[in-house]
Amino acid sequence: MRGIILSGGAATRLRPCTKITSKQLLPIYNRPMIYYPLNTLIKAGIKEILIIVSPERAGDYLNLLGSGKEFGVKFTYEIQDKPGGLPEAFIIGENFIDQENVAMILGDNIFEDDFSEDIKNFKSGAKVFAKKVTDPERFGVVKMDSRMKAEKIVEKPKEWVSDYAVTGLYLYDHRVVEVAKNLKPSQRNELEIVDLHNWYLEKGELEVALVQGEWIDAGTFDSLLRAQNLAKEKLHQNLII
Ligand code: G1P
Repeated sequence: MRGIILSGGAATRLRPCTKITSKQLLPIYNRPMIYYPLNTLIKAGIKEILIIVSPERAGDYLNLLGSGKEFGVKFTYEIQDKPGGLPEAFIIGENFIDQENVAMILGDNIFEDDFSEDIKNFKSGAKVFAKKVTDPERFGVVKMDSRMKAEKIVEKPKEWVSDYAVTGLYLYDHRVVEVAKNLKPSQRNELEIVDLHNWYLEKGELEVALVQGEWIDAGTFDSLLRAQNLAKEKLHQNLII
């Protein structure tokens, strides 16, 4: 299993804090934000990790994270020229993924759970991780039947569909590269991750698991503050990097 961290974007919602640095380099208690998703991948045994960054900040990431040797893993870097949607990561990462399975995590997603078993046991298809939230309109959401089987996934629905957000950790087999290449941009002119999920869902190959512990998308000032507190109270004892 290969790992990808998508850490691009301009994070305009966090201005002025993100005027001169990237959101994923802001501190969450005693670590830069990106250390948390990196922990999630490294703890799960992933050794080869592609870090996708915006051109303006590439040097900062290299200075901070280096080759990965310090953490017992190997980092590769790629540039996302403009934010074109999450599935772009698989197009940028085509050669890196090759014929392997891939776990992608978003650079601003902070999880308490340990996903080692999910990642080690993943064979093919796609697997996403859902969490019940009070603000589903901020996220991709998954509607499930009574047996927790996915029925549909919708990106940031204006009308209520479900309380289960699809969190920013995704497992896919290598077919994701070809599927991403064939996606058409949405109305907001981006490739949408929900279209990847739905491709696997239509084939009956999308699995949904529930996140047990805390999960925070640290993309707003309020969630950033919650992430700080979670890191101080709980997460920092269990970090390996
Ligand atoms: C992205 C995805 C969304 C997902 C969320 C998780 O949204 O598009 O489906 O629920 O990450 O953090 P963004 O945070 O980029 O708006």
